[in-house]
Amino acid sequence: MTAAASTETAKLSLNGQTIDLPVIIGTEKEKAFEIGKLRDQTGVITMDPGFGNTGSCVSSITFLDGERGVLRYRGIPIEQLAEQATSTETAHLLIYGELPNKRELEQFTQRVSERYALPDGMERFFDAFPKSAHPMAVLSAMITVLSSYYPQLLNPYPTREEMDEIILTLMAKIPTLAAVAYRRSRGLDVVAPRADLGYSANYLNMVFGGPGKKDPDPTIVQAFRQMLILHADHEQNCSTSTVRLVGSSRTNAFSSISSGVSALWGPLHGGANQAVIEMLESIQKGGGDSKKYIAMAKDKTSMFRLMGFGHRVYKNFDPRSRIIKKACDQVLAKLGVKDPLLDIAKQLEEAALKDEYFVTRKLYPNVDFYSGIILRAIGIPTNEFTVIFALGRLPGWLAHWKELVESGQRIGRPRQIYMGPTERPYRPLTQRG
Ligand code: SDX
Repeated sequence: MTAAASTETAKLSLNGQTIDLPVIIGTEKEKAFEIGKLRDQTGVITMDPGFGNTGSCVSSITFLDGERGVLRYRGIPIEQLAEQATSTETAHLLIYGELPNKRELEQFTQRVSERYALPDGMERFFDAFPKSAHPMAVLSAMITVLSSYYPQLLNPYPTREEMDEIILTLMAKIPTLAAVAYRRSRGLDVVAPRADLGYSANYLNMVFGGPGKKDPDPTIVQAFRQMLILHADHEQNCSTSTVRLVGSSRTNAFSSISSGVSALWGPLHGGANQAVIEMLESIQKGGGDSKKYIAMAKDKTSMFRLMGFGHRVYKNFDPRSRIIKKACDQVLAKLGVKDPLLDIAKQLEEAALKDEYFVTRKLYPNVDFYSGIILRAIGIPTNEFTVIFALGRLPGWLAHWKELVESGQRIGRPRQIYMGPTERPYRPLTQRG
């Protein structure tokens, strides 16, 4: 898949040399200078730490417009998917490009549910972790362990059938890994997956179910399903770019996805949902005064950031945050839950959005600001929040891994500008003082 080359070119002049840079244009009229021959033609490279201005690929999966707060999966607005879709059909849309018809959805659902169970013998690994191990450490490690049970799915150049089997295996087993890790970390018996339950209900049942327990509450299942959809993809975010970069070495999907989990763990990325609740709890313990945290967030020496605020792309609002904030009120009311942290979050948002520091930097609540309120309401422990983000993002990671492998893109290998010592001789130990 290639972006359309436009008739426009950009001129670059340096040291008396002028070159034309082709301009490529996407289906949403985004434009990029194509610099694939820049170093060959000029000996010069570009520099863009954090890649704020640099495209790593062309992709057909997700479109974001940060200025207008637009998020679409394969062209379908997130608002419609969050309202009407299931997480399984959203996963099919992201991975295969289209919403499945009835037969395709039944087949995809069945082929995933048939694969929920872990391979025999894997459970013993979970008890080797210290009880205090962070769930993201366990998840990332166990996805790599899972690969050792499927040598037939590690082909660097998978066939279409192998790719489908890889996708089904990871879609099915990663929630089971997360649920078994949760249960074993608490010394609880494992609850077997149930093919008769949907994707969200099965995960919730594996975590909270067990002998004598009722099936998960439909309100909780619906709230969880919506969280999976809202977190399912977000174009070239840190963890997805990690999946693509690691995948570009032609390693397998297991290690690519495991790397994505590790990247997502960071508090500047998916780990923010846990950090937001910890921040709100601190505000609550301190008497509910958010002003101190606003002041700390503005004080560069504090190294503190208002967690759940700001975004590299969204500069007006994060559409997901709006949907989750609305869902907070609905889900808590349906569950009869009153959470003081929700009121603190709303006050914090109101205070920040009146503050010149946040307004001038276009810092608004992102997907992580309210998500923890819902996860708490449905009973998910705080240190599991980023695992839920990973379960949501899994179809997006798989879609991007598939797109990368199918594109035949060469290995990702950025350049650098060296700033270290220029050439100097080795000095024997006796001459080093
Ligand atoms: C996710 O990329 C994605 O799509 C990610 C994600 C996805 O779905 O995959 O949307 C999920 O990761 C959401 C973001 C979760 N992270 C947090 O909530 C952590 C807090 N937010 C920040 O650390 C920050 O806003 C980032 C990491 C989200 C974005 O960082 P950028 O784009 O590198 O922004 P920046 O650091 O260049 O900040 C610009 C200015 C700086 O101040 P100045 O140097 O201009 O004076 O804004 C300030 C920053 O100090 N700033 C903040 C702030 N975020 C930015 N100041 C206080 N609190 C904050 N939260």
